[in-house]
Amino acid sequence: MVVVLDFGGQYSQLIARRVREGRVFCEMLPFNTPLAEIQAKKPRGIIFSGGPSSVYQQGAPVVDKEIYNLNIPILGICYGMQLMSLQLGGTVSRATRHEYGKTDLEVMSREGLLCCMGEREQCWMSHGDLVEAPPPGFNILARTEQAPVAAMADAERGLYAVQFHPEVVHTPKGQDILHYFLYDICGCTGNWTMGSFIEHTVAEIREQVGDKHVLCALSGGVDSSVSAVLVHRAIGDKLTCVFVNHGLLRKGEAEAVQKFFRDGFNINLVYVDASERFLNKLQGVTDPERKRKIIGEEFIRVFEEEAAKVGEIDFLVQGTLYPDVVESGTATAAVIKSHHNVGGLPEDMKLSLIEPLRWLFKDEVRQVGEKLGMPPEIVWRQPFPGPGLAVRILGEVTPEKIALLQEADAIVTGEIARAGLDREIWQYFAMLPNLRSVGVMGDERTYAHTVAIRAVHSHDGMTADWARIPYDVLERISSRIVNEVEGVNRVVYDITSKPPATIEWE
Ligand code: XMP
Repeated sequence: MVVVLDFGGQYSQLIARRVREGRVFCEMLPFNTPLAEIQAKKPRGIIFSGGPSSVYQQGAPVVDKEIYNLNIPILGICYGMQLMSLQLGGTVSRATRHEYGKTDLEVMSREGLLCCMGEREQCWMSHGDLVEAPPPGFNILARTEQAPVAAMADAERGLYAVQFHPEVVHTPKGQDILHYFLYDICGCTGNWTMGSFIEHTVAEIREQVGDKHVLCALSGGVDSSVSAVLVHRAIGDKLTCVFVNHGLLRKGEAEAVQKFFRDGFNINLVYVDASERFLNKLQGVTDPERKRKIIGEEFIRVFEEEAAKVGEIDFLVQGTLYPDVVESGTATAAVIKSHHNVGGLPEDMKLSLIEPLRWLFKDEVRQVGEKLGMPPEIVWRQPFPGPGLAVRILGEVTPEKIALLQEADAIVTGEIARAGLDREIWQYFAMLPNLRSVGVMGDERTYAHTVAIRAVHSHDGMTADWARIPYDVLERISSRIVNEVEGVNRVVYDITSKPPATIEWE
């Protein structure tokens, strides 16, 4: 295994991911993790990530200098290189001109770490400080116009560093450099797979839980579902899942989730149909933020009541992914919507957390799900907001509107799948703008609902572009909705990107 020491860089998680892509197990630890703890993990290599600080800044993150004497190869990246330089006696200074983005790299030594590179290569830079002179014992491996030391090595001591970012795709040979470090320098064998991740995680959960009891709030989404199956594999019947139907799910969802977990995986499942309770609370409420708050609070109440019935509980499973870990760390982001996962943690429950997916990205979670034998309907399920259809019905939420939207939505998802676009488009659904318009059906005047179709491409939900669904697919969706869903006489297509719109309408 390899340890990535995190100095707060924006690409730290990408380093960890690239290591895993090189089939090497890796764990990311904070920069100030005690050396003994790092050593106990017996890593074959250590990578220092980049970070936003300057090494000369007061309170800049540092590592215990003894780390350089552990006889474990180290690769410093960006801030990691500057720190290594400074701590070992090199000179670091402020660059007169910063280097950001694609930069031309002149490779001076094409042996060892940079053996995969030509004489001139593109690399990705993002730094204000630079190493002016390397520490004693180090050779300069590469430079750029601004940086006299863009890569350096003291091969005898197993210490390597690069100013550029090998982990981003804009350094085309970056993955080769990381591979060289992992395989040739650290001697990793590259035999780690998602299968090994499962084994490792299952063993870890077993040890953590012992004979205690674990509760999981299941939403039916990919993250909580994969987490539940993974924990179930580790501890079997000591896991109880609670699935709360708030009445705002898509057509057939409550049945599908029960069938899959109870019948398919034999998981202890408590199913609570709390639809009426939620709908009563939502009566007459039209403000989007209030709707979200009511659903969030009610969920916690229902969940706590059910948890109390289950008996003694010691742990709670959360389907937290790496991007969630990163996002929750940003204290300055403005609240656009009070997003909450209906599978979220009631804050005052004081349970220890099990977060088996906290180091993974969404696509890696899907790989784990497939490896666990979970069906494509769950593994490839599109994101669905915690408050469910309530944020897809503008204005008051009523049982009639929910039923209407469920039917229209089932047509949208069915036709997108039929056209083979379901894995291509990030999210696709119907929403109800709470708008009636005049139409004509047969010889009759109608005054009925409009349904809007929303379909977007996105990588992470933070930005999105509307999907160019072929006209014939749109036509089929539109004609099926007006023909099959009573109370709808018009279908429109939302062609707004995010920003300025959001993916959901509320
Ligand atoms: P917006 O509408 O903000 O949504 O562009 C971005 C992504 O987040 C999903 N979403 C939510 N997910 N709880 C969730 O778990 C929520 O309250 C919530 N609101 C929006 C949305 O479906 C999209 O994928």
